[in-house]
Amino acid sequence: MEKILVTGGAGFIGSNFIRLLLRRRRKMHITVLDKLTYAGNFENLADLMDRTDFTFIKGDICNTRLLDTLLPGMDIIYNFAAETHVDRSILEAGSFVKTDVVGTYALLQRALKHRIPRFVQISTDEVYGSILKGKFREVDPLQPNSPYSASKSGADLLARAFYKTYGLPVVITRSSNNYGPYQHPEKFIPLFITNAIEGKPLPLYGDGMNVRDWIYVEDNCRAIELVGRKGKLGEVYNIGGGDEMPNIVIAKKIIELVGASEDLLTLISDRPGHDRRYALNIRKLKRLGWKKRWSFDEGLKRTVWWYRRNETWWRAIKEGTFKRYYRKLYHQRIRDARRGKGKH
Ligand code: NAD
Ligand code: DAU
Repeated sequence: MEKILVTGGAGFIGSNFIRLLLRRRRKMHITVLDKLTYAGNFENLADLMDRTDFTFIKGDICNTRLLDTLLPGMDIIYNFAAETHVDRSILEAGSFVKTDVVGTYALLQRALKHRIPRFVQISTDEVYGSILKGKFREVDPLQPNSPYSASKSGADLLARAFYKTYGLPVVITRSSNNYGPYQHPEKFIPLFITNAIEGKPLPLYGDGMNVRDWIYVEDNCRAIELVGRKGKLGEVYNIGGGDEMPNIVIAKKIIELVGASEDLLTLISDRPGHDRRYALNIRKLKRLGWKKRWSFDEGLKRTVWWYRRNETWWRAIKEGTFKRYYRKLYHQRIRDARRGKGKH
């Protein structure tokens, strides 16, 4: 029986990944290690708690003593655990350095000690920085621009170093922007869907023309599973859906799907250091046999449907400590924009 450790499994991609594994494989046991930060949500996994092939542990990847009890006998570790929101990293970077860099180091070191046969580091396309034309390849230099992407770059490079220096069997995935069920409403697409449902302003940064390469979360999870199984040790794999479009185009699609008014669109002052465009070359992933299943329009439709059906889930988040964060990040900027003072 394969023993799998998924860190950060109570978050957005981690919880989708666990569901994918449970749908697919028979003889395995999944242990989730998650600190349940503001972004981790027990509800994302609540229906799995009675399963005999699943164990949930609340804990920190920085806790090496805990790692020493959990790691022995594991066949594979997927390290999803991270602080993940760029805007929060701009407000406060310390927790990003702690979890993303120091936490990943602790996990790599303990994986080496316990001779774990495979370690999948979940990195991000943001490590490359911004690209105006063309697409990033795995061999391109890392030029991160936010405290989040700098911390993820530290983790990514430590994973590489543990392979090169100590021979730890590592593979690294760098995926583009995910969207889909269970994504925290601090992120662009779920924030805009839920604000549109609530009739609240949709706060677009800058001129709304920044571009991301979007991938439906299930397509990313299939790619991660494939790279975990077939990826060459020491290698990096880009994962992208290739659905590139300016944020304002997505905002308008959401407005149409929700049936809200375009008057909600509000251009507010920009995110500092805002990367203009991300785009990935995914030839290497395709050579492993991966194919995208979800078009952006289908994926977005399904996502809007999910948020409509799961209002209790996101309202509980939005009505909790998120309110304070939202007030701090958005209220003044939205007021300024309404008075015509937005810097764009
Ligand atoms: P998320 O914020 O939804 O979830 C992160 C999870 O990690 C949460 O459950 C949180 O409680 C947990 N966590 C945080 N600190 C921890 C710690 N010290 N110890 C244990 N658990 C901890 O994030 P996500 O969007 O699901 O992203 C998952 C991974 O994928 C991250 O590594 C992220 O950098 C990477 N990634 C995300 C995207 C995206 O578009 N969301 C794209 C590329 C890469
Ligand atoms: O590219 C992969 C990365 O994608 C992941 O590594 C990160 O964990 C994930 O958060 C995401 O980072 P982004 O900064 O690209 O995602 P975010 O949802 O924050 O923003 C997407 C775009 O939308 C970006 O250009 C900023 C813009 N935006 C975002 C928010 C929250 C707005 O215009 N308004 C908003 O309120």
